[in-house]
Amino acid sequence: MRLAGLLAAALFAAAVALPAAAQDAARGAAISAERSGAAISAERRGAAISAERRGAAMAAERCAACHGENGRSAMEGTPSLAGQPALFVTTQMILFREGLRQVPAMTAVAEGMADGTIEDLAAHFASLPPGPPEDRRPRDEALFAAGQALIGPRNCAVCHLPTLTGREQVPRLIGQREDFLERTMIEYRDGLRVGADSQMNGAVVGLTDAQIAALAHYLSQRD
Ligand code: HEC
Ligand code: HEC
Repeated sequence: MRLAGLLAAALFAAAVALPAAAQDAARGAAISAERSGAAISAERRGAAISAERRGAAMAAERCAACHGENGRSAMEGTPSLAGQPALFVTTQMILFREGLRQVPAMTAVAEGMADGTIEDLAAHFASLPPGPPEDRRPRDEALFAAGQALIGPRNCAVCHLPTLTGREQVPRLIGQREDFLERTMIEYRDGLRVGADSQMNGAVVGLTDAQIAALAHYLSQRD
């Protein structure tokens, strides 16, 4: 659509310098370029919506029991998925399917899952509004401040964005379950979880358990 819009604008700009008949022709071309752009974008939107719908049906059947009906997990140790970037969900599902991220709960779920099914599920979870779990504990101001103080020096925002909401293959962190964040960062530090690459292992290297607990508290409390 953006391309069609640019094309339309360029044709209008060219039309200014042309005689009347040519101007009409150029305007006609511009309008039909815009129309076909609109048709293509409507088609894409339609395809995206049906992927989300297929993903929603599958998620209700196969994911909701652990990850929550609305993608916000109420189960200890199980992450919320609502609002995660689609590419992050896709990447992690492929890591589970290929046995590169080994978690018993997820191995069976991801086994043999087709790429298209994974993409539908990812589109669904990305479309859900994120938010903290219902059982989020009250904020401990000292712990929150200790966690916040580590974000800058450790460059977390460089990859996870200043809002810490993630992008592409980098996950959203804020509002995630505190217990999950804490455990998964310990696993990265201790080499028990390796992602698509070792970026996260480097990011948490040398942190103490107390520092990781503070980071987990800060991230889980941020909205
Ligand atoms: C039996 C419970 C269970 C079911 C069912 C389940 N999951 Fe999970 N899932 C987990 C647990 C537990 C983890 C955390 C793994 C860990 O400890 O690192 C997880 C992790 C994930 C992650 C990684 C998220 C992150 O933030 O690191 C994704 C993506 C995921 N699951 C997707 C799905 C999808 C999609 C489905 C349905 C097709 C599904 N899960 C079904 C228990 C489950
Ligand atoms: C160089 C880029 C980079 C930096 C810096 C970085 N991260 Fe990450 N982080 C990633 C990527 C990429 C992933 C997904 C990796 C994977 O596949 O396991 C990730 C995953 C995570 C996860 C797992 C979340 C989940 O839902 O599975 C947590 C928690 C996390 N990062 C916290 C942090 C914190 C806290 C910092 C700063 C101390 C930080 N990251 C710094 C790139 C980065």
